[in-house]
Parts: sequence; structure tokens; C-alpha cells
Amino acid sequence: MAYQLTPADISDMNKPPTVSQGGVEARKLAISCINRIDESEGYANIVLSNALKKANADQRDRNLVTEIVYGATRMQRALDWVVDRYLMKSPPPALRASLRVGTYQLLYTRIPPHAAVSTTVEASSKKNKGVVNAVLRKVAEELPVEWPNEGVRLSYPDWIINLVEAEYGDAEGQAMLEQMNKSPLVNERDDGYMQDLSSQWVVQNIDIQAKDLILDMCAAPGGKATAMASKEALVVAVDLHQSRSRLIAQNIERLNTRQILQVTADGTQPCFAQRAFDKVLVDAPCSGIGVLHRRADARWRINQADVDNLAVLQLELLCAAKDLVKSGGELIYSVCTVTRAETSEVVSRFTERTHGISAIPLDDPRWRKNGDGGLLLPQDHGTDGMYMFKWKIQ
Ligand SMILES: C[S@@+](CC[C@H](N)C(=O)[O-])C[C@H]1O[C@@H](n2cnc3c(N)ncnc32)[C@H](O)[C@@H]1O
Repeated sequence: MAYQLTPADISDMNKPPTVSQGGVEARKLAISCINRIDESEGYANIVLSNALKKANADQRDRNLVTEIVYGATRMQRALDWVVDRYLMKSPPPALRASLRVGTYQLLYTRIPPHAAVSTTVEASSKKNKGVVNAVLRKVAEELPVEWPNEGVRLSYPDWIINLVEAEYGDAEGQAMLEQMNKSPLVNERDDGYMQDLSSQWVVQNIDIQAKDLILDMCAAPGGKATAMASKEALVVAVDLHQSRSRLIAQNIERLNTRQILQVTADGTQPCFAQRAFDKVLVDAPCSGIGVLHRRADARWRINQADVDNLAVLQLELLCAAKDLVKSGGELIYSVCTVTRAETSEVVSRFTERTHGISAIPLDDPRWRKNGDGGLLLPQDHGTDGMYMFKWKIQ
């Protein structure tokens, strides 16, 4: 069914909405963030954090802006489909941003529709107020939406939906994708570091002994390195990127630990003596398909080629890491993704080409068994999606 604005809608466009100022500033901020993320392809977390730093907003408004910006970024395919049926052509970025912000509130929050519409209209630029008002009213009247297909409803690119459903089946795949449309839970460790439980559970499944010398080969920002250091291990925390290595340095300083040595280097060309470490952790760069709730814009950035390229890099890192582990020591592989190419297939390829290693079966009921490795799906415990595998080195 085709929808277009009627003459009556157009005549409504210039009616000033009745609205209190409360909440308008929050919508203005959300609209400007969404516009910036879209126009300059900015990272949602960076755009939002810069905007909130400059804003003079109370905590309630900050929470609302965060919810709308991340939510509207995640759900943009669904939101755009809803409003595009009322528009003759694709809207320019500022109008698109206002429509996403308004429609997000109507579809996915408990904000009363009249408040969502009036505050968003008021927060929109003068020239967009009329169209925003007319379209949002139409959307509000039409609720609940009848979706044309699962791809639009779930608001992911088709390739992600197809991949996840092919590997996990429709029901499990959809549960995973729906879970990653929700805001992630916040978890604080005893030392004040914010870290998802899945990452904490990776470290809990490493048999760390006091005085162990551990290489964390892909360490930034230092979440697992600091957790391992708190168990009295000495950790060498390596990362390829200078800018990300700085985050490790900041965390070392903030937690005031003397147990971590930070090095900026390429893990595929290690600068360490062979068989020097009791344990080596390869918490590898990955497509992040298990953390799409946490990185709101990631689903629109990554593609199938990234998955394939990252799987190759992960294998290279594991091959380099293996030679650095002492005889009797352990090699640990983890990734915050859940599809075969970057998890069990990397393990199979590594196992096929490597002598002198044996799997250490993961024995933790919180994890799904996946061969000798373990898998956490986001819907299992509300954590990130995560995979881990451990080997003993002869
Ligand atoms: C999943 S993140 C690591 C998260 C970290 N272990 C934690 O728990 O906080 C992967 C990291 O690998 C780094 N990286 C990418 N390629 C690398 C390479 N060739 N050598 C070392 N680090 C690399 C990235 O910069 C990124 O910081």
C-alpha cells in the first residue's frame, strides 16, 4: 500500500505544536548527533560523547539522548522504511535525522506519542518542522507497524541476518538479533573498570597463577589485561595501534597497577623470545557480530569481506602466538563474535596446521559447548556474544 501526505496533512504543517521546553533540548542534541553520524560517517559513541561533553544537560536528558542516538542508529533500516512511505523522495540528512529521532520514540520507547511528536517537531529546524509534524502524526496513527519482512523489522543488513539464521536457525538467530537491538547491560568490576560479563568470564576461564608471565597480544583498551593483572600475573599488553595503546596506558594509570607492561607492536611479527610466556591470550580483532548492541553503527559498517579478512588475521596471530608459549603453557583464543568463519573454522585451520598442541576442553556451564571451545550467545545471559578456545602447548 502506498502512503503519501494528503492536502490536509500539508495544511497542518504550519500549525505550531503545543509543547513545553522540557525535553526539546534533548531531542535537538539527538537530531544533531544522528545528522553528524550519517553525514560524516562518524562513530556513534565518539559523536555522542563529544556532544554530551559540550552539552549543559542533566543526567535524565543525557540518558534520553544516549538511548535515542544509539537506538535510532541501530534501528535505522526499520525507521527509514516506516517514514519513506510518506515521502516523495529521500529526505536530506537533517530532515532524515529528525524523522529517525521522532519515529524511534514512537516505535521503541514508552514516551507518549503526543510528547514524542511535539518535542521532536519543536527541536527540528524551522524549514523541517512542517514535514516532521505531518509524517510523525501519520506514523503515530498507523501504529503498530506491519513490517514487510524480517530484515526491515529487525533492522540489520540482509547479509548479517542470512548468515546468523543459516548458522543458528531462524528462531535462535532472530532471538540473537533481537537481543542485540536492546541496550547492553552495564557491568562494573570490583576495581571500578566497566567490563561486560562475557569478557570477565573469558579471564575466569584462564588458569592464572600468581607470578605467571602472560602475553596479551591484542590488548587495547586493556580490559582483560587489567583483569589478569589483578590476579597477580605479570602481563605484557601489546596492541598494534598507537591510539588504542594509549587507552591501555590510561587504564594502567587509573587502576594504579605495576603488573602490566605496555608495548605497541604487531602481534603477527612478535618481538619477544620464543617460549617466553606461561600463557598467551589472543583476544583477536574480529567483526564484532556478538557486540552489535554495544557498537550501534557497526552493523552498517562491517561486511562479509571483513569477516573473511579478519579470520585470516586471527589465524596469523594464533600461529605467531603459539611459538611464544613455554612448554606446558597455554594459548587462549577469544573473539566477540559468534559465526563459524571467525570461531570454530579458525580453530580447525589452526589445529590442522600446528603440531605440539592439544585442546583444553572448556568446562563452564555458563558457556554453550562448541567442540572443545565455548560460546556465549547474547540471548543466553544478556552478555556480549563471545567465543573462546584453549590449547596446552607441548
Ligand atoms: C578485541 S580488541 C581487544 C580487546 C582487549 N583484549 C580487552 O579486553 O580490552 C582487539 C584489538 O586488537 C588490536 N589489533 C589489531 N590487529 C593487531 C595486530 N596485528 N597485532 C596486535 N594487535 C592488533 C586492535 O587494535 C584491538 O585493540
